[in-house]
Amino acid sequence: MSLPGRFITLEGGEAAGKSTQIARLAERLRRQGRSVLELREPGGTPLGEKIRHLLKHDPDGRGMAPETELLLMNASRAELVRQRILPALRSGQVVLCDRFYDSTIAYQGHGRGLNRAAVQSVIQLAVGTLHPDRTLWLEVDPETAQTRLAGRKAAQGSTEPSDRFDEEHEAFFARVARGFRESFEAEPDRWRRVEAGGSVEGVEEAVWSAVSDLFAEA
Ligand code: TMP
Repeated sequence: MSLPGRFITLEGGEAAGKSTQIARLAERLRRQGRSVLELREPGGTPLGEKIRHLLKHDPDGRGMAPETELLLMNASRAELVRQRILPALRSGQVVLCDRFYDSTIAYQGHGRGLNRAAVQSVIQLAVGTLHPDRTLWLEVDPETAQTRLAGRKAAQGSTEPSDRFDEEHEAFFARVARGFRESFEAEPDRWRRVEAGGSVEGVEEAVWSAVSDLFAEA
């Protein structure tokens, strides 16, 4: 689908620094005079944020079936695509999204082990013919991710509700990482890998190098 805007998604495991980098990239693009919309998944619409709560924090969501998780992720996505992403792209905005369908392939496909063809068809129903122009894989080694997660938890204290995904095991996250690697290797034109273990400023420059060609004026 060719629309006047640009659609960039950031992917990766927990604590890869995606939200920090989205904020920095958005700021840089705004300084260049572009109109930028920052979104996250699951979430990004009023209904989607409720679904996000169910998926991550609601005690009633504990032990939900992987199939339920797949469908809820994509219910949130179907809203986000129609209410926010497509209108923004049609009006020429840059849309930066913290996770998109590649997370479903990695988490529900590889992590939970759901049938890949079924995962693909649910995603297709949610997004139609919309695909990111560029997807960045922010990769950090598992030790750095663990240290960052522990730091984040300590900073939040006991006020933050527990997160179902943060409680997953190492083997789950290893499968998720393999999922991102497979998607990255399968579509080299769309994907760029960004080494995200270094300083925030260093990663910001690497992120910019990975997307700047999309903004080269003809
Ligand atoms: P985050 O916004 O803190 O990254 O939390 C979102 C969580 O949801 C994260 O653990 C990854 C997970 N997730 C999926 O399992 N499938 C999906 O399709 C998406 C978008 C996120």
